[in-house]
Amino acid sequence: MKSNNRRTFLKKSILGTMGAVVASSACAQTSTPRDAEGPFYPLTPQKDKDADLTKVAGKVGTAKGTIIEIHGQVLDTNSNPVEDATIDLWQANSFGKYHHPHDNSDAPVDEHFQSWAIIQSGKAGKFRFKTIMPGAYPYQARLEDQRTPHIHMKIGKHGYEPVLTQMYFPDQEQNKTDGLLQRKTKEQQAMMTAQNTGQQNVLLYNIFLEKI
Ligand SMILES: [Fe+2]
Repeated sequence: MKSNNRRTFLKKSILGTMGAVVASSACAQTSTPRDAEGPFYPLTPQKDKDADLTKVAGKVGTAKGTIIEIHGQVLDTNSNPVEDATIDLWQANSFGKYHHPHDNSDAPVDEHFQSWAIIQSGKAGKFRFKTIMPGAYPYQARLEDQRTPHIHMKIGKHGYEPVLTQMYFPDQEQNKTDGLLQRKTKEQQAMMTAQNTGQQNVLLYNIFLEKI
């Protein structure tokens, strides 16, 4: 074999092997499971919807609670990055209270918590946001029936099926009794739960979208 042909052959072999690896993970992958929207999608307009939910523009002070960062990628079901996907996310504050007129719980409002963000995936489908660990809160006023901490998300991009879901946290005792999370299979729960990274308070959460 001439050296040029040999190089082409080797290149093709390597690409072929890589293709097989991608294909095998693609077979196992589905879109991120859907979950209930819940009653507290934000109604009150707010200008500040950036990726740092621990500060509110124009106010001095920081949200109460444990500051965390969520890093991840938006991918398609073949594990290709999806750039410019929109991630619309909202969550309760550290006391378990939503910034929403219909949240009648006695938990305190935190005026320094942004509570809502609309961000986009960037290069290689990557995104990140900074927030606080959401508090658990009573579900339908049944105090004995708390929702485990979670972040609501709507993810969309033209040409992909939109996903409305909730992101859960690892190592939460209340995950075991949460009515919505426990309706899911173990595989679905794993896809919906962020992973520890080894770096304190930094979690990894990848989102999978299906092409239309
Ligand atoms: Fe919720």
